Amino acid sequence: MAIIGSDIKEAIRFLMDGNLVGIPTETVYGLAGNALDDEVVLRIFEVKKRPAFDPLIVHIGTRKALFEFVPGIPQKAEKLAARFWPGPLTLILQKNRIIPDVVTSGLPTVAVRMPDHPMTLELLNSLSFPLAAPSANPFGYVSPTTAQHVAEQLGDRIPYILDGGDCDIGIESTIIGFEGDEPVIHRLGGKSVEEIEDLVGKVKVIRSSSSRPSGPGMMESHYAPGNKKVFLGHWEQYRSLLDPARTVLIRYHTPDPDFPRDRQAILSDKADLREAAKNLFTTLRRFDVPGISYIVAELLPEEGFGRAINDRLRRAASKD
Ligand code: TXA
Ligand code: MG
Repeated sequence: MAIIGSDIKEAIRFLMDGNLVGIPTETVYGLAGNALDDEVVLRIFEVKKRPAFDPLIVHIGTRKALFEFVPGIPQKAEKLAARFWPGPLTLILQKNRIIPDVVTSGLPTVAVRMPDHPMTLELLNSLSFPLAAPSANPFGYVSPTTAQHVAEQLGDRIPYILDGGDCDIGIESTIIGFEGDEPVIHRLGGKSVEEIEDLVGKVKVIRSSSSRPSGPGMMESHYAPGNKKVFLGHWEQYRSLLDPARTVLIRYHTPDPDFPRDRQAILSDKADLREAAKNLFTTLRRFDVPGISYIVAELLPEEGFGRAINDRLRRAASKD
């Protein structure tokens, strides 16, 4: 069983020995290993039960470390990194030969991010290699936002989880690729479209679903697991279809007066989208218990963090 601790030196030792370690970031916890070691990277796929065609994000500890792994970057990528790193933004860039093909599933591009968590930055800056780290959940499951979540799901497969507390943002990073010099959002996440557009102008957002991935790996759904079915909207629309005794509601800021209060989760009673994002995955996890078959989730305003939250809810609802 994994040890949960806050000893950065211990985490460094495990990583230097070629082991995998659960690491905190501001978005979600990662399952980290030496990105430059093929064997270690393969083990990440194995532990996560992730298909080999779904590439990993490489985490770095300084902005300038990026240039060890990419031959050059578009101007707008430079601008985005300068403003938003460390932070919840991943850039997909042409890779150089130092990044092993197993990391990128054979793609000529690599996803890179500098996470904003003091312990993980210290860790990264103490190592001589970057860390490949997908979210530390079994493939297809909800991403973990606490060290305990990681322990519950992967604790029997890794030696150490670095406990950095609850993730500040609670939803994965925004992923941006480039068509020439033009940024394209591949995954909505912890950095809002508005903030990105304020810096670099209008950006295209690629809509993808688990059944129709826009690229390799955009098919990982973040759904309430097991055989729970997620419906979007309000109880009113589903009351003639679903057994209320087996249903729970996810609501934005106010409970539905026509439904038992104790089976409703409110994402943010102050109607704060940031707080709602932070509570989303914990709520989905909380409802992953026997006796609950249906989740009716209200969509949030399509702005700021609301877009990323709605994206995750739509993915959850489109699960066959
Ligand atoms: O916030 C996050 O991004 C977290 C923390 C741990 O950093 N990580 C995370 O990793 O969410 P993961 O592996 O669960 O999701 C990364 C996504 C995958 O959908 C993968 O397919 C995509 O990034 N990706 C990675 N490299 C890519 C590439 N070269 N081209 C296109 N997509 C890529
Ligand atoms: Mg993931």
